[in-house]
Amino acid sequence: MKKVVFSGIQPSGDLHIGNYIGAIAQWVKMQDEYDCIYCIVDLHAITVPQDPKTLREKILEVTALYLACGIDPQKSKIFIQSENPDHPYLAWVLNCITPFGQLERMTQFKDKSQTQKEGTTAGLFDYPVLMAADILLYHTDEVPVGEDQKQHIELTRDVAEKFNKTFGETFKLPNPHISKFADARIMSLQTPSSKMSKSDIDPLGTINLLDSEDRIREKIKKAVTDSEPSISAKVHGQGNGAVQNLLTIYAAFSGCTYNTAVQKTQGKAYGQFKQELADLVVENLKPIQVKYKEIRNDEKYLRQVLDDGRNFAISKSSKLILEVKEKLGLV
Ligand code: AMP
Ligand code: TRP
Repeated sequence: MKKVVFSGIQPSGDLHIGNYIGAIAQWVKMQDEYDCIYCIVDLHAITVPQDPKTLREKILEVTALYLACGIDPQKSKIFIQSENPDHPYLAWVLNCITPFGQLERMTQFKDKSQTQKEGTTAGLFDYPVLMAADILLYHTDEVPVGEDQKQHIELTRDVAEKFNKTFGETFKLPNPHISKFADARIMSLQTPSSKMSKSDIDPLGTINLLDSEDRIREKIKKAVTDSEPSISAKVHGQGNGAVQNLLTIYAAFSGCTYNTAVQKTQGKAYGQFKQELADLVVENLKPIQVKYKEIRNDEKYLRQVLDDGRNFAISKSSKLILEVKEKLGLV
């Protein structure tokens, strides 16, 4: 039996090359070796305010982007989280055994709650427990995510272990599966000390998967580097510096290691390096964009893929929910 992979992305904001390099590119690679389930986690998206019309549009956009990036519905399942009510059900159960103090330590909560002008909500605080439910419902072995999600997977393991100890062996303990590129943290092109993010207010900081060629070239041209005229020998180890970040993107899109990228670009003037990097990014994103347009316009097909995914998901999760209810004395 193949091992199970589960992952998801929130349909909020525009998907960017950080999402691609840190998450989706790995998802595509894992399809042959694992039984993969990829989710559009819309219930996570509403932990911060969303405009309903935009959200509906984004859910279909993300679905089409998964497919355009190479998720193959013949091999993997794609579904919308809110279409399987077992997710919030299990989240509630897990809430009742998750220590409050552990949730208070979650970095993503601390960051996100600071940016909420109207005050933070119980939903945002509880976000990692819903994520734990997503993962545990399918006996997941591996969770391919960016490095920023590691803490949430550790919490998932802790909660699963606690449940198993208290009520008997029920959940499998999942492992994070982090891409090898810079620990899968792609940084902002403008502020390399913070990660490239859907919620970045500076549009020049992120390269979105659906950006036009001109826009991509402009953003790379304006990316910050260092005060040298060319890539110096000082730029060595991987890290979160401006130039290291560009080299990481270069490596990811040319399919080479970070060290090879360093060797290939050593001594190059930044102007030339940026031109080559822009060519690479455009070349890699073009086929995704062409495929995206085709798929996004075919809503019947999208619905078919999502219906099939939902039916599969519910057939798996409903069995586990029955087991959980029995163990808790809820039947
Ligand atoms: P998010 O954009 O926060 O919904 O993240 C969706 C997925 O993309 C998660 O697996 C993240 O770890 C990954 N991800 C998000 N931003 C980055 C980034 N800047 N670099 C690498 N991976 C990222
Ligand atoms: N929290 C993840 C993020 O921000 C998204 C997510 C929700 C997820 N549920 C998941 C990722 C389950 C992996 C598995 O990126």
